[in-house]
Amino acid sequence: MIPELARPCVYMQNSQRVEEVIQAMQQAGPNTLQVISDFDMTLTRFSYNGKRCPTCHNILDNSKLISEECKEKLKDLLNTYYPIEIDSGRSVEEKLPLMVEWWTKAHALLVQQRIRKDLLALVVRESDAKLREGYNVFFDQLQEHSIPLLIFSAGIGDVLEEVIRQAGVFYPNVKVFSNYMDFDESGALRAFKGELIHIYNKREGALLNSGHFQELRARHNVLLLGDSLGDLTMADGVHSTENILKIGYLNDKVEERREAYLKAFDIVLEKDETMDIANAILLHITRGQ
Ligand code: TMP
Ligand code: MG
Repeated sequence: MIPELARPCVYMQNSQRVEEVIQAMQQAGPNTLQVISDFDMTLTRFSYNGKRCPTCHNILDNSKLISEECKEKLKDLLNTYYPIEIDSGRSVEEKLPLMVEWWTKAHALLVQQRIRKDLLALVVRESDAKLREGYNVFFDQLQEHSIPLLIFSAGIGDVLEEVIRQAGVFYPNVKVFSNYMDFDESGALRAFKGELIHIYNKREGALLNSGHFQELRARHNVLLLGDSLGDLTMADGVHSTENILKIGYLNDKVEERREAYLKAFDIVLEKDETMDIANAILLHITRGQ
């Protein structure tokens, strides 16, 4: 049905179910579809030319806006908490307080640096951030068919928006839930706004933003993209879901996590730095009827 699904990077526990869901979505048409995607390591690349690509946080961490001393501290946090984030031997219950700790400490350090709003665009431009190959086809297709895209990220909203703005794909059908910076009257970072979003509370984040899902209540079909098991709850605010197709990028600790990912996501992508699979599915759905 979709030749791209036969690529060696694609793993599915139940390919028949995947076909059935895509078929049902095609029949219902693009007017009933909404797309919900994580940002870091889902819309952005995990690696490029053998080098790891930055998350929203890393874009700031590696920038000239941060002192050398603070960079060391942020690196220590990354080295402590990232292995916990991807540890398949620990339960979500065990990881959750540690993730809150990571985000809280990292945000406190960023605030101490009094990052200037007017320099964000520059540091994003100078960074190694890269959207996945085929991102333009992904955003263009959604825009062309007026399919709403919710980018739901535990990263930093101001940075994320700048990445997609500079890539020329921050279209009106794109909405972002994320951690936004609060700047003082001089334009220096003083805090983060609202409730913290970390990788394991996206369900709560979704429920807090019920207005968005209320607006989209006629769209019962969901295409979800993520790279973390925490991303699976991003669609928990959707009104009476009819069909949901979950695509998961398995970027790191592949062997250890494959089984859990195959159970949780309908399609698991390994060593795939592109948006090709999502693009092929969207093309099939939108070309439909
Ligand atoms: P996401 O929800 O858009 O994927 O963003 C969350 C990612 O951000 C998660 O994989 C961990 C990463 N992260 C950092 O790289 N540095 C940090 O300081 C923090 C708090 C998170
Ligand atoms: Mg992610």
